[in-house]
Amino acid sequence: MARVAVVTGGTRGIGCAISVALKDAGYKVAANYAGNDEAAAKFKEETGIDVYKWNVASFAECKEGLAAIEAELGPIDVVVNNAGITRDAVLHKMSPEQWNAVIDTDLTSLFNMCRNVIEGMRERGFGRIVNISSINGQKGQMGQTNYSAAKAGLIGFSKALAQEGASKGITVNVVAPGYINTEMVAAVPEPVLAKIIGQIPVGRLGKAEEIARAVTFLASDDAGFITGATMTVNGGQYYA
Ligand code: CAA
Ligand code: NAP
Repeated sequence: MARVAVVTGGTRGIGCAISVALKDAGYKVAANYAGNDEAAAKFKEETGIDVYKWNVASFAECKEGLAAIEAELGPIDVVVNNAGITRDAVLHKMSPEQWNAVIDTDLTSLFNMCRNVIEGMRERGFGRIVNISSINGQKGQMGQTNYSAAKAGLIGFSKALAQEGASKGITVNVVAPGYINTEMVAAVPEPVLAKIIGQIPVGRLGKAEEIARAVTFLASDDAGFITGATMTVNGGQYYA
């Protein structure tokens, strides 16, 4: 029986590459997204993967969305918490809205998603949870106190849940990408982006597919002895 995988923010950027890689590896994949219907429709047409629209910052919407996926595809074996946003500003210019939006979407979403699948995984004795952090959660980044806090918090969440799930066949791991060529990075001001690329020893932005390969390995049955780990994939920009 094919395992069922849910990828949040699975229709664009890194999430799109993860959804496709998991499908290619034989999973039944459900891709969640927030509001970009046009991108989701294009993704569905090109990949044949079903899409589910809800806001991962809402506990109730996660509960309802995950129940719909289980009704259509079966019990969920794999969750990839990939959905995330930035609202960059230096702290002395940051609004409460910018802080809350990032914490809710990039960190509280992990509680919202995991809380709604963890009991089923425990009952069935199997689960794979892969959470997408960032180099900027590991090293800190000016202009991102909100994002760095959320992405570092995600690592602590994963280490704690890894301990709770270990005896039940559930692994919880983190992939921490460096700067990857997606629309999120395209939003960085051009002169700043040029400076960032100059800091990457490999000399280029990463590709979404390079993150997807790491996630697919951690989601596999073969990775059962890896839990609570953070895999950095950042072109040598920072050694955590
Ligand atoms: N790396 C190196 N230098 C940076 C930098 C970065 N990431 N971000 C800003 N700087 C530098 C600027 O080049 C500028 O240098 P100079 O004074 O020498 O010109 C200085 O910091 C101040 O920057 P701004 O003039 O742009 O100041 P601002 O107040 O208008 O904006 C900012 C500040 C919000 C931090 C803005 O510069 C910015 O958006 N920077 C990008 C921050 C960043 O790296 N975000 C990552 C987004 S992608 C992502 O988050 C994905 C991921 O996980 C990796
Ligand atoms: P992206 O291109 O901006 O795509 C983001 C995806 O997340 C979209 O599918 C979006 O849905 C979805 N999303 C956003 N908010 C959501 C919400 N509240 N509920 C449900 N879905 C939501 O981003 P990306 O660059 O691929 O980044 C993916 C993840 O990797 C993020 O967690 C990001 O922080 C992390 N990351 C990225 C980089 C990088 O360099 N790109 C580096 C390190 C870590 P819509 O299409 O509907 O908007």
